[in-house]
Amino acid sequence: MKRSKRIEALDQRKVNLDGFIDEWPEKGFAAMDSPYDPVPSIRVENGRIVELDGKKREEFDFIDQFIADYAMRVDRVERSMAMSSVDIARMIVDIHVSRDEILKVVSGITPAKMKEVINELNVVEMMMGMQKMRARRVPGNQAHITNLKDDPVQLAADAAEGALRGFREEETTMGVARYAPFSAIALLIGSQVGGRGVLTQCSAEEATELELGIRGFTTYAETLSVYGTEKVFIDGDDTPYSKAFLNSAYASRGLKVRFTSGSGSEALMGSTEKKSMLYLECRCLYMTKGAGSQGIQNGSVSCIGITASVPAGIREVMGENLVAALLGLECASSNDQSFSHSDMRRTARTMLQFLPGTDFIFSGYAAEPNYDNMFAGSNFDAEDFDDYNVMQRDMQVDGGLRPVTEEDVIRVRRRAAKAVQAVFSYLHLAEVTDEQVEAVTYAHGSKDTLDRDVVADLMGVEDLMKRGITGVDVVKALAETGYEDVAESVLNMLRQRVIGDYMQTAAILDEDFHVMSGVNTPNDYMGPGTGYRVSGARWEEIKKIPHRIDRNNF
Ligand code: 5AD
Ligand code: CA
Repeated sequence: MKRSKRIEALDQRKVNLDGFIDEWPEKGFAAMDSPYDPVPSIRVENGRIVELDGKKREEFDFIDQFIADYAMRVDRVERSMAMSSVDIARMIVDIHVSRDEILKVVSGITPAKMKEVINELNVVEMMMGMQKMRARRVPGNQAHITNLKDDPVQLAADAAEGALRGFREEETTMGVARYAPFSAIALLIGSQVGGRGVLTQCSAEEATELELGIRGFTTYAETLSVYGTEKVFIDGDDTPYSKAFLNSAYASRGLKVRFTSGSGSEALMGSTEKKSMLYLECRCLYMTKGAGSQGIQNGSVSCIGITASVPAGIREVMGENLVAALLGLECASSNDQSFSHSDMRRTARTMLQFLPGTDFIFSGYAAEPNYDNMFAGSNFDAEDFDDYNVMQRDMQVDGGLRPVTEEDVIRVRRRAAKAVQAVFSYLHLAEVTDEQVEAVTYAHGSKDTLDRDVVADLMGVEDLMKRGITGVDVVKALAETGYEDVAESVLNMLRQRVIGDYMQTAAILDEDFHVMSGVNTPNDYMGPGTGYRVSGARWEEIKKIPHRIDRNNF
């Protein structure tokens, strides 16, 4: 066939490198709805749910059972299930119906009913819903802080810059798992240099991650995965009960915990029971609530390639974020793993959470160049900071970040690297040379840094673990080496672990270590003239992007 030059040009567009597939529910490729999804139903006997979404208690798998026993308000189900799905959907977008009222209604509907409600909403209505249902009044943002070399000095510098730019949670993970304690300490120090009160996480194998938390090197945990079918759950050597137990283990030591789930995981792992992605994700979110977790990182997350390949996949992602908010959970709304070669498409996808605001618009914005992202790449990275800041300014929207000056970036990067140098030296962990500090201060990514002696680092890690070093030793080291202010911040993070207020739904700390959560600063949006508005000092800050004509400089 003679080719059309028009079509040839279109074929070359980046978007056509993305993967797309037809709806195919038998294989799990159905975003919003599958003909095999159950019809909503409920029956209560003697205060116990004996039928859920078409299944009798005798036929329940462990997910149904967990949901029936722990995730629903039995005293509400009859009233809520009697309402039509379209009526509930209308309440969600009705500015005269409060968040509290909707939380109450929704606490009595089943997962299949929830799926029906979401199917009544188009994406704009979903955004209206999120604007009202997000737990915390002010939206937030979370960063990935990682690099290819697992270099703790770069981690500290990137964490400091990330905190300066406005991220209120920062997480890391490693290529070499054994580096974890160094990563956690570097992240802890760097984050507090850049912005006091930033929560940090080191995603590792569960036992290690728990130990790092108990030692006081981290303040939150988030990769407690749940799945929507029993078979996939069992393949991961888990059950809703084991996840609930792990949740309690973290929480009992004062760590903030959120679960992780997201559409596409069941299709990826080969067991969807032919159900739609949205229905399966509803099951995950009900389990999360039933397990007592305050929140969720969801929105397909690392399975976004699957969900984004089917029709209405991106609508489904926003739908599942909204379900989380409807269940009263904190929602860290993904925009996380990269899924598209197209700048237009990756930006459009993010607008669904960016415009209404969520508790964390990104559950992992790469605060480093994408090649350094050890979570397998993120939808936005360090090279997109200015684009993001301009979008906040264009639309007067609070996306959780702020423009910064080059001087400040260099200053906090150097200080974080030097603080790690001082602490590592004081505690005899590993050597950080002045040349390393210098390289990291001015680096964009690990291609610009010096290589570390990995063997020596790992010996230092082993020694640190053997000697029982904790967050208190880090505080002492900082205080004794001239970083009293950073010592005080790290000590304050340890204090938060004892106070525990930041374990409330959607909590973050401000720069004075005050908790802002869905409990003490709840979202009170009820239409124009209410809720959070970008104004005052925050608006002035957002306006000041670096590359503008500054009228004061004329
Ligand atoms: N479902 C469940 N867990 C997920 N994670 C990421 N995406 C999903 C998903 N769709 C978890 C995994 C992964 C971490 C980054 O987050 O545990 O290791
Ligand atoms: Ca995350």
